[in-house]
Amino acid sequence: MEDIIIGVVALAVVLLFFLYRKPNAKRYKLPPGPLGLPVIGNLHQLQNLNPQRFFYGWAKKYGPIFSYKIGCKTMVVISSAELAKELLKTQDVNFADRPQHRGHEVISYGRRDMALNHYTPYYREIRKMGMNHLFSPTRVATFKHVREEEARRMMVKIGKAAERSEPVDISELMLTFTNSVVCRQAFGKKYNEDGEEMKRFINILYGTQSVMGKIFFSDFFPFTGYVFDDLTNLTAYMKECFERQDTYLQEIIDETLDPNKIKPETESMIDLLMQIYKDQPFASEFTIDNVKAVILNIVVAGTDTAAAAVVWGMTYLMKYPQVMKKAQAEVRDYVIEKGLTFITEDDVKNLPYFRALVKETLRIEPVIPLLVPRACIQDTKIAGYDIPAGTTVNVNAWAVSRDEKYWGPNPDEFRPERFLEKDVDFKGTDYEFIPFGSGRRMCPGMRLGAAMLEVPYANLLLNYNFKLPNGMKPEDINMDVMTGLAMHKSEHLKLVPEKVNIK
Ligand code: HEM
Repeated sequence: MEDIIIGVVALAVVLLFFLYRKPNAKRYKLPPGPLGLPVIGNLHQLQNLNPQRFFYGWAKKYGPIFSYKIGCKTMVVISSAELAKELLKTQDVNFADRPQHRGHEVISYGRRDMALNHYTPYYREIRKMGMNHLFSPTRVATFKHVREEEARRMMVKIGKAAERSEPVDISELMLTFTNSVVCRQAFGKKYNEDGEEMKRFINILYGTQSVMGKIFFSDFFPFTGYVFDDLTNLTAYMKECFERQDTYLQEIIDETLDPNKIKPETESMIDLLMQIYKDQPFASEFTIDNVKAVILNIVVAGTDTAAAAVVWGMTYLMKYPQVMKKAQAEVRDYVIEKGLTFITEDDVKNLPYFRALVKETLRIEPVIPLLVPRACIQDTKIAGYDIPAGTTVNVNAWAVSRDEKYWGPNPDEFRPERFLEKDVDFKGTDYEFIPFGSGRRMCPGMRLGAAMLEVPYANLLLNYNFKLPNGMKPEDINMDVMTGLAMHKSEHLKLVPEKVNIK
């Protein structure tokens, strides 16, 4: 079906392409890349499955900077630490924009959010407010009890499965954990995990995330693309997802505005945004739509990322049992020495091997492997090649963290010791390791994201050993990713827990 659509798009657009082609258009020396077809460019060659690995293959062939085309748009991919630094540090301002995307435009209320906003004065104000308030160390600490409570709840479920020697779905458990934490942090709402309200929230979130990950014809084929968006029902799907999302967010806002509302234990993020709405501290108006757009960033970015990271971590630990043993030994020795039954956020700083394990997990599978795409604001050059204004640029963080110059000859080996041997962190200044990005658009939720993944991850190593179900071997684990902004393991990870007695 997709092939037919592409064929029809090609035919319909070809005429317009030649009609509207400017004879004296500026000639650029673009980065090398695969030859494409007229009109559709390289669309037919792209693979949806594991795009970061696919682009890594192209980087091996065409170099650490390559370009390709989709329709009328030039796309560039960077795959080395040096060029990542050039883009995210030296030329950061020029690449601080986000590319055109019809779905992003609609879902984010016309880009009133932070993550998808163009690089505007409003963006800079909202980002500054985010760094000082929404994601400040103090605010991250206010929700510490929420994360720990939900992690304990998750461990109880694993305990029950261990008693029955049944497999647990680690992917599902982690998503429930992050959904519950995010609802409490963002809205001050404690849903019953298996209740209808939680199911509704998850469904809405799924719709929003899927619209964000879709390719819209109209972004690449400006003359006829809208017709194909309509014919393939993409427009209708986008509108339906947006309406469900908007109804839900409006209900949350109405509750927040309700004078009879019971004050939550901790001020949630939406309370803070509503205060900004009342105070109007920015140069441009901060409307209810702005509140919805910003809170949506927090929800979307907070649920998927931490869950995906822990699932990848547990997957690699099943494949590398000696790493699993070492990490378990550190965590278990620590609780014995301190007389504890649970690892808290404060304990994590005393677990150097575990902290190296977290970094190695984010190195080997950065959960947003292609970062969030940037758009070039004005014509520039990188590595001697022209990058025209408007070009979409992806940094392949997955490839960068396999750059042999920095990571040695076996970058695919899962070895936390790397981070004990050299002092490299994910704070955005070591360009060979950028799971949270770097520069002006670097993840503002880094601290919160790390806190959300550390406690469940550490406690998974504490009281249980894990086996693969049904005689499955580690080499049988499917390592494919589910394409989206945050890339999950496509098959859920199911493991059988066995209680261990730690004395
Ligand atoms: C393990 C967890 C997380 C990872 C790996 C992660 C990673 C990233 C990455 C790679 C980017 C793009 C950076 C760039 O363009 O250079 C990003 C952006 C962003 N992240 Fe995160 N993130 C995580 C958790 C969170 C959390 C918990 C929140 C908020 C609650 C959050 C909020 C955001 C926002 C708002 C942006 C857009 C920033 C901008 O455009 O200015 N992230 N994140």
